Amino acid sequence: MLRVSLVALLVCCGTTFAQTPAPCMTPEQFTMRASQYDHKDDVINRFYVAYDSLNKRRAIFEEQDVVIPGRQFREFLILNNDNLMYEINLSQKTCTKSMPRPWRPYAIPANATFETEYYIGGPGEQVFATEWSDRIPYRQREYWIGVFSANNCFPIREVIIADYRNVNSTITSNFYDIVEGIPNPNDFIPPEYCQNATFAMPSVKVPYL
Ligand SMILES: *[C@@H]1O[C@H](CO)[C@@H](O)[C@H](O)[C@H]1NC(C)=O
Ligand SMILES: *[C@@H]1O[C@H](CO)[C@@H](O)[C@H](O)[C@H]1NC(C)=O
Ligand SMILES: *[C@@H]1O[C@H](CO)[C@@H](O)[C@H](O)[C@H]1NC(C)=O
Ligand SMILES: *[C@@H]1O[C@H](CO)[C@@H](O)[C@H](O)[C@H]1NC(C)=O
Repeated sequence: MLRVSLVALLVCCGTTFAQTPAPCMTPEQFTMRASQYDHKDDVINRFYVAYDSLNKRRAIFEEQDVVIPGRQFREFLILNNDNLMYEINLSQKTCTKSMPRPWRPYAIPANATFETEYYIGGPGEQVFATEWSDRIPYRQREYWIGVFSANNCFPIREVIIADYRNVNSTITSNFYDIVEGIPNPNDFIPPEYCQNATFAMPSVKVPYL
């Protein structure tokens, strides 16, 4: 009898202490810069992103590489509540519209699998991060991996693996220079020349951000 309750005690407290963290809640509005590596094209693209999950909208501006820092060429203005995506050529001031992909927040799914937690950076300049995936232990490997800051739950890194038999289907994104809130609400207002935009197929691959 004594032995049984001892085992019960161990089981109880073992699980209590081994508890994994619960998925945190990503802030609803922020801006950031992002790099996205598309393994298929073998290119890295950089973007400035304004994100507003309250109103289900994203403004994604292409950033040129270091040669012309910060210069913006194309904007993808995604307004899921209007079921519209504007593709805007900022240098030519042309605009087309199409239907956006379904809304996808930068969130950790409630049933995500906790992978691990760690410090990013070195002594004196560290961020504590948690890593999650959609892996189902012993049943299904991961197709999504997300790393988030542990304190405030901002996205740090995301890997999407569409097909394990084809390395070209993987997309890796890194997120940085995050600012909370919506510093420039105009980011979400289509330019005037989008007024008469016609529907068109998205002309290029829309970044998966
Ligand atoms: C903008 O439009 C011009 C003219 O149609 C085109 O040559 C250029 O490639 C476009 N730029 C982008 C980033 O789509
Ligand atoms: C989470 O739930 C979704 C929807 O029910 C399911 O498809 C998915 O496999 C689950 N993921 C995990 C890691 O259990
Ligand atoms: C991936 O892309 C490269 C370059 O385009 C190609 O040579 C290779 O065959 C592709 N691999 C697969 C598995 O499709
Ligand atoms: C949109 O089309 C209308 C009617 O053709 C025209 O009056 C208006 O100037 C156009 N707006 C822009 C921004 O091109």
